[in-house]
Amino acid sequence: MDRIYLSPPHMSGFERPLLLDAFDSNWIAPLGPHVDTLEKEFAEQVGVGHSVALSSGTSALHLALLMLGVEPGDEVITSTLTFAATANAITYVGATRMYIDSERDTWNMDPQLLAEELRACARRKKLPKAVVVVDLYGQCADYNPIREVCARYDVPIIEDAAEALGATYDGQSAGTFGVFGVFSFNGNKIITASGGGMLLCDREDLAVRARFLATQARDPAPYYQHTQIGYNYRMSNLLAAVARGQLQVLEDRVRCRRANYESYRDTLDGMPGIAFMPEHPRSRSTRWLTCITVDPASFGATRDDIRVAMEAENIEARPTWKPMHMQPVFLDCRIRGGAVAEQIFDEGICLPSGSSLADEDRLRVVDVVRAVGGCLMTPDTRDAFLPRRKAA
Ligand SMILES: Cc1ncc(COP(=O)(O)O)c(C=O)c1O
Repeated sequence: MDRIYLSPPHMSGFERPLLLDAFDSNWIAPLGPHVDTLEKEFAEQVGVGHSVALSSGTSALHLALLMLGVEPGDEVITSTLTFAATANAITYVGATRMYIDSERDTWNMDPQLLAEELRACARRKKLPKAVVVVDLYGQCADYNPIREVCARYDVPIIEDAAEALGATYDGQSAGTFGVFGVFSFNGNKIITASGGGMLLCDREDLAVRARFLATQARDPAPYYQHTQIGYNYRMSNLLAAVARGQLQVLEDRVRCRRANYESYRDTLDGMPGIAFMPEHPRSRSTRWLTCITVDPASFGATRDDIRVAMEAENIEARPTWKPMHMQPVFLDCRIRGGAVAEQIFDEGICLPSGSSLADEDRLRVVDVVRAVGGCLMTPDTRDAFLPRRKAA
């Protein structure tokens, strides 16, 4: 049986001529015309003033923190349920991380707990230097209350939208809810350039500064002069060419990923103990990954039973993120709440969700889940799903 991957790259055909153009023009070195054009096209599509093409989403987070002046001794609040890159970047600038639990409605940062924490920080007269809000698995956090409370205490937001390109909240694009927004073009993301990232902001001076810091902070002098520490964080022209091709099909990729989710929902519908990651009424999630939780008491088996059975069938499925406050490397950090993220970690699993996932392969995944739960579909019911999806 061929392996079914969690979220493999999906080239469209638009990338190849753009990549060849970069290659043939000898713009191999960092920067070049595709980088400039990608930045313009990206900013336009997402609806933001400026975008800066970088080597990764992690470097974008690092630069955002640097530009907000975060330094040793400062505290930065972030979501506990996230990938380690979010917390790592805060460590790079020497700040202390403080974690907020997830809310059940979005699995993202709980606005109520954030408000409580900021109130407590204000009482102590030590507000955090920034709040890094994560948009998990393709869905924006609940930004109305989050923005309202951050504005009340004048604490800037960095939006880690690495997993949520193409998502919206109240019709507004992910990546545009903070002073800075961050995206990733890592290999498993909804569109990929094999690697790469994007930093978004509305202010031109911040974009100019980000480009300066990302190119070794070279002073405008006729020789190599540096008055500040810089970084080698820019995107190469080759990767920018691939990213431009991928950007053209973003909407289609969102449609495919949402169709995966809808199909999983239809085919797993009614299985006791299975629940899907909720979608907030104000949100349009991309369903970058379709995530389910498995309540062992009603399902009769655990999330890990499913994961192991998938592996035996050559299917890649992953537990949901292990919260940062449970990570051995981050055990010393403060956390407000934590039980919701812990339960999502205990019970959650991400199902194969690639935009190129075939109907037959998706049913292979469903068969495993149903077999573990002792509830196989009859052959007739199973067959009924194939033509319906093909016709859709
Ligand atoms: C939430 C989150 N933040 C940041 C990153 C880092 O992006 P990159 O891998 O491009 O550095 C990722 C994923 O890779 C992520 O999932």
